[in-house]
Amino acid sequence: MPSWVHADGWRRRTFAGPAAFTGPPWSAVSAVVVRESGEFAGDCGLTPQRVDGVDEIEVGYHIRADLQGNGYATEAAAACRDFARDVLGVRRLIAIIDPANAPSQRVAVKIGLEREKTATVLGGERVVHAGAL
Ligand SMILES: CC(C)(COP(=O)(O)OP(=O)(O)OC[C@H]1O[C@@H](n2cnc3c(N)ncnc32)[C@H](O)[C@@H]1OP(=O)(O)O)[C@@H](O)C(=O)NCCC(=O)NCCS
Repeated sequence: MPSWVHADGWRRRTFAGPAAFTGPPWSAVSAVVVRESGEFAGDCGLTPQRVDGVDEIEVGYHIRADLQGNGYATEAAAACRDFARDVLGVRRLIAIIDPANAPSQRVAVKIGLEREKTATVLGGERVVHAGAL
């Protein structure tokens, strides 16, 4: 497991901009690097989310377009799942996914998060995958 960083500031700059950011005060996002080369491949991490009025922990992942299809997201997300369970004591993990994003839903299923429902979250209709840890 790579070192973990509190990346709230990074998320503010990268995804939303300070004025638009309304999320929780923390998230734990780590760089994903190619083991053999050390090359930056993307990010993966855990973020609190409120879905249908319930506080949840979400696993999220992004892999560079030119490195997709190598199993990196699955490996990183599985490591985050294990970290959430074994270190943080999280008992339920979700993934919030655009309905059109088949690769992301496949990654969620591969780490044990089955499709549970749709919900209006993160500004639109999303598929929520979930699993007990
Ligand atoms: C989603 C994403 C992280 C996956 O990264 P990745 O490293 O390529 O994922 P993996 O290689 O671990 O696994 C991808 C799986 O999706 C499958 N897949 C790829 N394209 C697919 C498609 N069009 N339909 C169905 N499955 C698809 C792959 O076959 C693979 O499953 P398999 O191992 O059973 O064959 C990557 O596509 C990405 O960064 N997308 C943009 C950001 C994003 O959408 N993040 C998720 C936000 S919820």
